[in-house]
Amino acid sequence: MGRKVILDVDPGIDDAMALCLALGNPDLEVVAITAVGGNVSPTQSTRNVQAIIEQLDPPRWPRLGAASEPDNRLAVDRRSLYGSDGLGETSFAVAERQHLLPSEKVICDQVRDAPHLVTIIALGPLTNIARAFIRDPELPALVGQIVIMGGTVSGPGNITPAAEFNMFCDPVSAQTVFRSPSTKTLVPLDVTNRVELGYDLFNRLPDESNRTGQLLRQLLPQAFRGYRQQFGLEGIHVHDTVTLMSVLRPELFTTKSMAGDVETQGDLTIGATVFDRRRAPAWRHNMEVVTDMRKNAVVEAIIDGLNGRFRHE
Ligand code: BDR
Ligand code: CA
Repeated sequence: MGRKVILDVDPGIDDAMALCLALGNPDLEVVAITAVGGNVSPTQSTRNVQAIIEQLDPPRWPRLGAASEPDNRLAVDRRSLYGSDGLGETSFAVAERQHLLPSEKVICDQVRDAPHLVTIIALGPLTNIARAFIRDPELPALVGQIVIMGGTVSGPGNITPAAEFNMFCDPVSAQTVFRSPSTKTLVPLDVTNRVELGYDLFNRLPDESNRTGQLLRQLLPQAFRGYRQQFGLEGIHVHDTVTLMSVLRPELFTTKSMAGDVETQGDLTIGATVFDRRRAPAWRHNMEVVTDMRKNAVVEAIIDGLNGRFRHE
């Protein structure tokens, strides 16, 4: 059995690519996929998670968790990047499901079932993780590790000058998770931004006879359109996929122990991540932060993984 992971996602084409990579990887046992509002509304996010799983139809279906309205969410419009449904207007039909448990309950149950063994890979706002920690205060110490895509250490934000999208959407929850007594790794925007996939990606994906190839070939044109229209880029960033890769191939990434927190109030700075890097810091180190990666090797590992090729150094 591979490493047990929960993927907490807000698909989003970037999240969808990460799900393709995770569900095809024999090193991972994806015990649950929990939806959270972010790139799209909570309802749409839940629907998109179902649609992606149904399209990929992995040999073992993970538990699914339904997103609910967060208490503190700041509404952000991501439609121009990923389309109004978050999945490039693909409008996949999904089976009607009864009794989908709330994401935070699924997280609590899965962590309690395998204490210290579950890695949570958080690829959206931290609403569900914070709620799980509030619901079960012992949970932070029972999670094996949380790997978070979000924040920025030195570079600018991507949703305001100061804030990265996932932190900005729900900064109160992000702060709860940052301050919790859990083992955390942050994969910030300054690092994930360094990977830009160009149009040659289409020549390197599996073909339409493969479910991953079929799904990504439907989704990715919207991402390329969105990045060109919004940022003038002839390529796309895949923040969530790079973050997943830091779990699959940690030897390709450099980390540093740091003391991090999240701003929850400032007019200009709400959602900004702040690190105490003073010579004599007052804050305790509370997370590992990815500071560098072997970019070309990461890109190759992404392409290999999407094609079902898994290598280890
Ligand atoms: C993050 O924002 C979202 O739009 C992406 O899915 C990713 O998780 C990058 O800032
Ligand atoms: Ca995401």
